[in-house]
Amino acid sequence: MPEEINRQWLLASRPSGFPQEGNFELNEASLPNAEHGEVMIKLEYLSIDPYMRGRMNEGKSYTPGVQIGEVMTGEGVGVVVESRSSALSAGDHVVTRTGWQEYSTAHESAVRKVDASVAPVSTALGVLGMPGLTAYHGTFDVIDPRPGDTFVVSAASGAVGGVVGQLAKKSGCRVIGTAGSDEKIAYIVNELGFDAGINYKTENVAERLAALCPNGIDGYFDNVGGETTDAVLENLATGARIAICGQIANYNDVEQAMGPRNLRTLLVAQAKMQGFLVFQFVQKHPAALERLSAWVADGSLKYKEHIVEGFEEMPRAFIGMMHGANFGKLLVKV
Ligand SMILES: NC(=O)c1ccc[n+]([C@@H]2O[C@H](COP(=O)([O-])OP(=O)(O)OC[C@H]3O[C@@H](n4cnc5c(N)ncnc54)[C@H](OP(=O)(O)O)[C@@H]3O)[C@@H](O)[C@H]2O)c1
Repeated sequence: MPEEINRQWLLASRPSGFPQEGNFELNEASLPNAEHGEVMIKLEYLSIDPYMRGRMNEGKSYTPGVQIGEVMTGEGVGVVVESRSSALSAGDHVVTRTGWQEYSTAHESAVRKVDASVAPVSTALGVLGMPGLTAYHGTFDVIDPRPGDTFVVSAASGAVGGVVGQLAKKSGCRVIGTAGSDEKIAYIVNELGFDAGINYKTENVAERLAALCPNGIDGYFDNVGGETTDAVLENLATGARIAICGQIANYNDVEQAMGPRNLRTLLVAQAKMQGFLVFQFVQKHPAALERLSAWVADGSLKYKEHIVEGFEEMPRAFIGMMHGANFGKLLVKV
């Protein structure tokens, strides 16, 4: 029976620069067995995230990389098809670290049950999952936006950035986003309520920021690094707070980029710059999810999903994201 085969995407080789389809290999394995306390999950959506690029590398990061021949790492949401757990039943929807495969097992302690009546289950990988929590903690726990602040977020139409800008608006800030197409800029301004947007591919970001932020930037949520961040640093207000969330502009560099070299701007602005990982706020996740869920339910927090159909599309979807092809939270429908 075809259902008895578990298709998986393995890491076949490590990329140098941008990932290529040949770095992945489609494998067919037999179905995993759920042990005592575990469930077997049939995946419905798999998440594609920028951090996966780092996991393809050898060497030290905050989590070990994927080994050659191993299933690519990632989160998914799916339905329990077999339960050996007293806490979960067949038919429940759960989100957990599944890897890039069609079926996976997980211990009951490692899964979060998803309430499909609150929002579509796919949101457990986006606005009501890791990216939404990243936006929440980076905005409130790192930047701490205040009414009247000028707030800038990069990769503003993406899974994290789109939520960040709306949270900053809720905090009474004037919000400016940067993104890589006019369509994305129109979306953040017209649909998400940002005050302005800058297309970093066609506009001079430093000049536009200087014009849009005459009193400087108080809060910056950095998803990209690179030249966009250089331009922000040249336009800081006194007492600026900067959250370093991601540096996707450098994830495919063959040689590690040096810099930034304009840190004098932080000194002059008496600014604070802090890197963070979503997991450091794990104790606060339940309260954050409650607030995010309430905002999604009352319609005051909007989200956009970019759903690619078909498990076989995983590598192409991932590679596309590294070139900005996704518009919203990137998911693959298995
Ligand atoms: N610290 C944490 O715990 C944590 C957790 C989750 C995510 N992150 C980071 O947050 C960032 C956003 O993640 P996400 O899941 O929301 O992804 P996303 O924004 O939905 O997708 C990635 C986007 O990055 C932009 N991009 C790609 N290459 C770029 C480049 N060279 N320069 C500028 N922008 C580029 C593209 O949009 P454009 O068309 O606008 O270029 C692309 O759509 C990533 O850097 C990720 O690593 C960090």
